[in-house]
Formats: sequence, C-alpha cells, structure tokens
Amino acid sequence: MNSSIEPPTSLLSVPTGALRIPELPPASPNADDEAVVFSLVIPTYNEAANIHKIVSVLSTLLDESMAGNYELIVVDDNSPDGTWNIAQSLVSEYPQLRVMRRQQERGLSSAVIRGWQASTGSVLGVIDADLQHPPHVLEQLLQAIEQGADLAVASRHVDGGGVSSWSFIRRFLSRGAQILGLLILPGVLGRVSDPMSGYFLVRRNCIVGQTLNPVGYKILLEVIGRGKVGKIAEVGYVFCERKQGESKVTWKQYVDYIHHLIRLRLSTGPLGRFSQRVGFPIGRFLRFGLVGLSGVFVDMAVLYLLSDPTTLALPLTRSKIIAGEVAIFNNFLWNDIWTFADVSSHQQQWRQRLKRFLKFNIICLAGLVLNVLVLNLVFNFIIPNRYVANLIAIAIATVWNFWVNLKLSWRVTQVK
Ligand code: GDD
Ligand code: MN
Repeated sequence: MNSSIEPPTSLLSVPTGALRIPELPPASPNADDEAVVFSLVIPTYNEAANIHKIVSVLSTLLDESMAGNYELIVVDDNSPDGTWNIAQSLVSEYPQLRVMRRQQERGLSSAVIRGWQASTGSVLGVIDADLQHPPHVLEQLLQAIEQGADLAVASRHVDGGGVSSWSFIRRFLSRGAQILGLLILPGVLGRVSDPMSGYFLVRRNCIVGQTLNPVGYKILLEVIGRGKVGKIAEVGYVFCERKQGESKVTWKQYVDYIHHLIRLRLSTGPLGRFSQRVGFPIGRFLRFGLVGLSGVFVDMAVLYLLSDPTTLALPLTRSKIIAGEVAIFNNFLWNDIWTFADVSSHQQQWRQRLKRFLKFNIICLAGLVLNVLVLNLVFNFIIPNRYVANLIAIAIATVWNFWVNLKLSWRVTQVK
C-alpha cells in the first residue's frame, strides 16, 4: 500500500494515566504468525555500559527459540548517560527492540508497568539491564509458562539459586525484609521463595485491567497482590555481581518497601475489597478525613496564637482568614504526600505541585461557601438545631471537598 520507505524508527510513546495494563486488541485472523507472544521489559537508569550487551545477548537467545515473536522494550528514565539514545541507535541492528524514554515519571516499578502497557505480548516479563539476571534462565521461565504457570519467577532461594558474593549485612537485610513482609502480607509473600525478585514472567491476562499501584522496587509484590495469579513456578538463578555501572539501591528503597507492604495490606484486605465493590475509595476518603481533622487543630492553634487577648490579640476576622489558610496549606501538604501519594509521586515538579495547591485552595473555599449554604438551609427548613445542622453541613462539604479534589486536583493530568 505505502510505497515510501519507513521513517527512521521512533521512540515508543509513554502511556499516561493509571498504571493499568490494557487488554490486547482481538487478533486479526490472518495476522496469526506475526503476533508477538512475549514482551520483555528492560528498565534502565544509567546503563550505558550494559545496554548493548544485554540487548545483544537477549536477542541471540530469543531469536533461537521464538524469532520474530518477541519484543524487547527498554524503558529508560531519561538517563543522564544517554542510555535511551544508545538503545535507540541499536534498533536498526535489533528489529525486535523498542525504546521508551520517560521524562515525566521516574522509578523502577512504574517503568516496568509503562513498558507492559505499551507492549503487545500475551506473556509479559522483566529483567534487569545490568546482567545481574542471567539471560539463559529465560528459557526455563518461558518453559514454565508454556507448561501452564501464570507466573514464573527467577528465584535466588530455590535449587540452583543463590547470590554470588553478598556481604553478611546485605544477606541479613534481604532476609529481614522478607520476614517482615511475611508478617505483614503472608498471603502474598508466602507464595514465592524470593518475593524480592525483579526477574519474572507473567501472563498478561492475570494482570489485565487491574490498576497497579507500586512504590519503590518490588513490582512482583504488586503483581501477586493485585493480579489474578493461579499457578506459580520458580526457577533457581544466581544473582551475579554487577560488572558495569552502579546499583541504584539506597536506604529509600527500604522505606518504600515497608510503605508498599502496608499499602497492599490495606487495599487488598476486606476494606479494600468492599471499597472496590462499591466503587468508592474508602481508604482514601478516611485519610482525607483524618487530614481534615488535623486541619481543625491547626486552625484552632493559629487562631489562638493570633487573636487571643493573651497572645497577639489581632482582630478576629483577620486572624480567622489566616488560620483558615494555614489549615488549608497544612491539609494540602498531608494530602499530597499521604492521601494522594500515588498520584503526586508521578507529578513531582514544583509547577505541578503549585497547580494542585491552587486547585485545592479554590475547591476548599467553594466547600466553605457550600458549608454555609447547607447550614442555613438545613437549620431554617429541616432541622432547627444549629449543631446537628452544622454536622450535616460539614459532612456534605467534606464529601464535596474530597470528591472534587479527587477528580480535579489529584487526577493524573499529564497530557502529551
Ligand atoms: N527506568 C528505570 N527507572 N530503571 C531503573 C530505575 C529507575 O528509576 N532504577 C533502577 N532501574 C533499573 C536499573 O538500571 C537496572 O536495570 C534495574 O532497574 C535494577 O536496578 P539495580 O539498581 O541494578 O538494582 P539491584 O541490582 O540492587 O536490584 C535488583 O535485584 C533485586 C534482587 O534482590 C532489582 O532487579 C530488584 O528488582 C531485585 O529485586
Ligand atoms: Mn542490579
């Protein structure tokens, strides 16, 4: 049809919005033999020294077993060392390679999910770029899936597995983290011997349509916790030493990990399931309510400091306006880092924060107007008790504040 030569291959565009894997479009009947069956994501950050090697080894390996039926998707977070650029230059040599360069979001787990979202395979996988995950293990992982597993995990803790030369401290921390996880989330961590593994394959249909919400590094927890994963297979592997580049692990990963465990615990427990069934984010609403409560104390404290005769004794109205605004600021901060952390962590630029704050401010002011209106309405026409009327007014304004902020302030707003 089109006789012009294909333009030079371009970067994959970055999916936006929720971290949800879309269903595959129904296969056209005659495109059968072209269907990509396996999509392997390679997340990278400053892997310039490794990227060529890993792409070449994986391509050789997969060309042998499934030529043309796989894709390698490098997802790079705009590495300063230009990994994405090097990767893109390899595409002509490795036609199964696709490259995504992310500039708005960062982080290992979301990189993997963005890659899967852009993929076309019915089996999805992830492997590190730094050659610490031995590529030949892929064959066994693929075999396990072929034999019916929903999830095939490369594990350091089954036969044939291990760590090459970790210090005692690192082994201790790794095991400690696993035990902590078992205590908090036995239903997830108890299902695999190496829940920290970042090397695994999963059937797409196990996680299709689920909104994944990871923090930090441990995406496998998310897949087991929120996916519909039946049979799990494990294949031993030895976690090799890094030869090139540096690990990105810092103490922050430990904090993120604990945060992730708690979040999964809450959202996949009974409350989480109920909230999904009724389609209302109950956990989020409770957090929002708690933050609102903290705002009441802030408001009171500032009002006292400014207007009390024993302190600054400023005029009441002026004091109240300042107190109210300080409370709004307080609430915004907590909501941004806690209630809506999953959304704001993807939009960390100052400009984006400021925008959220302004929206939050306007919506809360509108909420105050609504509060006064409802109070008057209820008091004058329905329940002639000012405190009961006020409670009703506060409840309605809180739901308004929550719902409108959910839809407008902390919505994922990046547009390409
Ligand atoms: N896109 C992107 N964004 N990639 C990242 C980021 C990021 O913010 N951070 C790290 N990566 C990439 C690295 O370039 C590498 O390919 C891979 O993710 C793993 O990062 P490392 O920094 O090498 O992690 P590690 O070697 O300490 O940990 C690995 O082994 C663990 C086993 O305990 C990871 O694979 C973990 O997922 C795994 O659990
Ligand atoms: Mn590594």
